Amino acid sequence: MSKYFHPLVKDPYSIDDINEAKKILDSRQITMSKVTKKFENFFSEKMNTKFANMVNSGSSANLLAFQCLINPYRKNRLKPGDEVIIPTLCWSTSLWPIVQANLKPVFVDINAESLNIDEDQIERKISKKTKAILLVHVLGNSCNMSKIERIKKKYNLIVIEDTCESLGSKYKNKFLGTFGDFSSFSFYSSHQISSGEGGMICCKKKEDYELIKSMRSHGWSRGTTFEKKYKSNDHLDNRFIFFNSGYNLRPTEISAAIGLNQFKRLNKFIKMRNYNRAKIINVINKNEKLRKNFLFYGASDHVTPSWFGLSIKVSKNLNKKNVVNKLEKNGIETRPIISGNFANQPGAKKYKLAINEKFPKSDLVYRNSFFIGLPTSKINNQFLKKIEKAFETAAN
Ligand SMILES: Cc1ncc(COP(=O)(O)O)c(C=O)c1O
Repeated sequence: MSKYFHPLVKDPYSIDDINEAKKILDSRQITMSKVTKKFENFFSEKMNTKFANMVNSGSSANLLAFQCLINPYRKNRLKPGDEVIIPTLCWSTSLWPIVQANLKPVFVDINAESLNIDEDQIERKISKKTKAILLVHVLGNSCNMSKIERIKKKYNLIVIEDTCESLGSKYKNKFLGTFGDFSSFSFYSSHQISSGEGGMICCKKKEDYELIKSMRSHGWSRGTTFEKKYKSNDHLDNRFIFFNSGYNLRPTEISAAIGLNQFKRLNKFIKMRNYNRAKIINVINKNEKLRKNFLFYGASDHVTPSWFGLSIKVSKNLNKKNVVNKLEKNGIETRPIISGNFANQPGAKKYKLAINEKFPKSDLVYRNSFFIGLPTSKINNQFLKKIEKAFETAAN
């Protein structure tokens, strides 16, 4: 039994999802196969992305994007020390794949309203070595993609969209994850859809798709055009040609089956979360004391959001830590707004990233904001009363 009446995620899997997983077990084809391919094709078609490779997590998707960018087979590959712009408010594995690829992350502070990178601060961080921007679409929202597209064009930059928190959100009616050269998605259990663990890496060029595909599976040529290229009659077994460096970041068929089944319900989830979000906001805003103490982050201009959580800012006269502790004690699970200012994390200090730089907006958001979950089944009045009571206790 959960100690929370309102956990971050509740019952993420339907009976149908579980049945899809059981079918895979019954078939004994548990390792990556046809269902994964089916999910990739369906995802590409619905999201309007050109190429998609499913992986075992959103972190792996980011890792493969950056390994692809430095891959020796890639035309115009990035070189050690090339710079990548990244918002300070990010997830750990939005950042580390940049460092692991021997590239240099250059932090830009966020816009404290959108929680996304402050587009207006990007240009002053661009140098001759800047080759890419990694965007993090935070908690269902987006920055101004029209401004990003202008910057991309002006400086000829590669854009990687970390869409792990924003599957289904749109900017000017176009899905996030379809603007950049690469985009990553996560199907971890608290996100818009869940496959247990799982992710997708999308890209626009066939060249990148094939390199990613090979690195996902040991650097193998299987299923890529390199299979033909390296076909030979000499000492090598043509079934096992390893032409590239690689990992094993494949998903299981079980994850693909659950992910595919959930993805078909994404629109339903979006609608239900919108409904529940409006109900929670309404109950808090109707209460005079609560209205003064809690503010809700909304979608930026031109964004049609797909939320999975409700991001909340506490007023100046409350201490966020106390609020969060009281909500936790009273049955509401909470989370920080991702990492806050990532430069403050011990890992960033150990690697000497962004030493002596200040990112006041990310610091502020970490100090005064948090988020709670949004269920995918309809909440009732009794539940709303409990929410109101917990927030009243937290505001005292
Ligand atoms: C912005 C962002 N990027 C990447 C990830 C990593 O995704 P995963 O947990 O599937 O590895 C997360 C995870 O929560 C995230 O929030």
